[in-house]
Amino acid sequence: MSISDSGQQSGWKDYPAEIWDERKPIDWLDDWPFWEWCAASYAHQTPVLELACGNGRITRQLALAGYTVAAVDINPHFLSRAVEHLRELPNDVRARAEFYLQDMVELELGQQFGLALMADWAFPALLTQPDQLNFLRRLADHLISGGYFAFDTIFPTVRQLGLTPCKSDNGLEWVGTERTFDPIRQIETRLSADQVMRYRHTSLSEITLLTEMTGFEIVECFGGTDKRPLRGVPGDDLTLVLRKKTHD
Ligand SMILES: C[S@@+](CC[C@H](N)C(=O)[O-])C[C@H]1O[C@@H](n2cnc3c(N)ncnc32)[C@H](O)[C@@H]1O
Repeated sequence: MSISDSGQQSGWKDYPAEIWDERKPIDWLDDWPFWEWCAASYAHQTPVLELACGNGRITRQLALAGYTVAAVDINPHFLSRAVEHLRELPNDVRARAEFYLQDMVELELGQQFGLALMADWAFPALLTQPDQLNFLRRLADHLISGGYFAFDTIFPTVRQLGLTPCKSDNGLEWVGTERTFDPIRQIETRLSADQVMRYRHTSLSEITLLTEMTGFEIVECFGGTDKRPLRGVPGDDLTLVLRKKTHD
């Protein structure tokens, strides 16, 4: 598997599956109504591309709802869990989900979709603008003209509340936590399950520019998967639907 700098450094590739299963259990479905709404509104009964599927909690729901899903993740242990989580389902439901071990920056499925979705803050795993651009370009190749991409991600200024200078004089920190923030690279670092995890904070204006550079437009912008209006207040994240522009 070809792996980008982000794939190497985000910490996700080797994250232990049993710990992720505890953090985001397969039956944690608070955000499912949003992804269900996306599928019903944008997939038009065509196969769905699920990026960064983790332990397959949304893949499973999509398959149960009758959608055919191509689900991609960079972590082989997560994908094994995802397959296990589908095992108890009827054969016809299970057959609707295919899993692919790939880095989404290097996505190569040889197929186009009407809808791609990426649940639960996987976008911050793209740690540099070149990787974000490569990802969106690869994704555009995998979407039909007029196809959609729905995702949710960090709203930086909300996330950055409470930052103070590190005692070491090196970057910023959230005192009392093990999280630090490098304001130059826009990268938050934390330790989780003995892994150094890195998340890039990307502003709405940066995302808007990235989408324009890669042939997308923003068609929906919410403050969370509960579809609240985005106000940039605590509790908000960036929940966006992009559309691949059609050629005139
Ligand atoms: C916060 S978890 C979200 C998992 C899942 N979407 C969910 O909603 O439960 C982020 C996921 O992104 C995956 N990921 C991170 N970087 C990736 C990359 N470059 N390519 C593919 N998957 C990636 C991780 O392995 C992890 O499963």
